[in-house]
Amino acid sequence: MKEESIIKNYELDSEDELDNTIRPETIDEYIGQNDVKENIRVFVQAAKMRKEPLDHVLLYGPPGLGKTTLAFIIAHELGANIKTASGPSIEKSGDLAAILSSLEPGDVLFIDEIHRMPRYIEEILYPAMEDFSLDIIVGSEGNSRNIKIDLPPFTLVGATTRAGDLSSPLRDRFGIINKLQFYTVEELTAIVKRTARVLGIEIDDDAAVELAKRSRGTPRIANRLFKRVRDFAMVEGEGVITLEITNKALDRLKVDKMGLDNTDRDLLMAIITRFNGGPVGVDALSSSIGEEVTTIEDVYEPYLLQEGLLKRTSRGRVVTDRAYEVLGLPHRVERNVQTSLGLE
Ligand SMILES: Nc1ncnc2c1ncn2[C@@H]1O[C@H](COP(=O)(O)OP(=O)(O)OP(=O)(O)O)[C@@H](O)[C@H]1O
Ligand SMILES: [Mg+2]
Repeated sequence: MKEESIIKNYELDSEDELDNTIRPETIDEYIGQNDVKENIRVFVQAAKMRKEPLDHVLLYGPPGLGKTTLAFIIAHELGANIKTASGPSIEKSGDLAAILSSLEPGDVLFIDEIHRMPRYIEEILYPAMEDFSLDIIVGSEGNSRNIKIDLPPFTLVGATTRAGDLSSPLRDRFGIINKLQFYTVEELTAIVKRTARVLGIEIDDDAAVELAKRSRGTPRIANRLFKRVRDFAMVEGEGVITLEITNKALDRLKVDKMGLDNTDRDLLMAIITRFNGGPVGVDALSSSIGEEVTTIEDVYEPYLLQEGLLKRTSRGRVVTDRAYEVLGLPHRVERNVQTSLGLE
């Protein structure tokens, strides 16, 4: 048991290390998200010209699209130090007060999963973001008083997969709000090629395109699949990633031509076979396929919605005709007609 966990940790560490080497560090190395990138370039330059801290930045969008990466890039471009925290790890108001009072002038404070911070802790951020001041209560019960501490000017960068879960007072205090979009195949191809270059691995052009097509619009998935395809290339090929090896590896990993994996397909199939194509509420869907509601909403649905395989209606989720096509099933309309004609 112990040995197993050590091995797991070791694996995690080496993957993490790899992630750090392939993570872009400057805004020029960051591929895609052109609107967001150009805006940030301007705002960073303006802040530097005024010798003021950059306004607070909120980054939101599905997992793996580069929010954390961009937060580090913003600090890099500002020439600032970055301190990091994550919403769920801030358990007491004192934790946040300690982080805030450790800031140096011009620092970037990155709070990941900022929507998961409890509301009463979040309130400490309001004066900190607005006036760079920290209002804290000191002393014991019956003998407590409020004190105000000045904070140095800093930039808060918040990241979240669920902008809708952010309270409006918090959201309103961000001057720069950016939504990250799924990447195009061209952008993901460039990301895959960059990863290959950084890791010193040869990849054919058509293989890079194929990997990109099957990465669900997501750089993290592109890099993850890249690593697995590289393994196949080393063991079963000559070390060069060819189209043939890419197809073989991805088929073995059960990632289909569109990038859908088993869970994506299970989700669509469940709606079709158990809920007659929908509408179905997310709770029923969640118990049907055994995935958490938040995982369905944050990880799986965004891509299925964007690809037009799924629709969200007021009565629940509905699969589209395209989903039947992609899964190689007869259309719902046809099936209904067939049923009414007594053909089924
Ligand atoms: N624009 C990009 N160009 C090149 N590589 C990228 C880009 N965006 C992300 N990546 C790669 O994808 C990986 C995942 O990105 P990142 O960790 O920043 O995602 P995230 O949005 O913070 O995800 P989560 O919501 O899960 O925290 C990074 O390790 C990085 O290597
Ligand atoms: Mg992140």
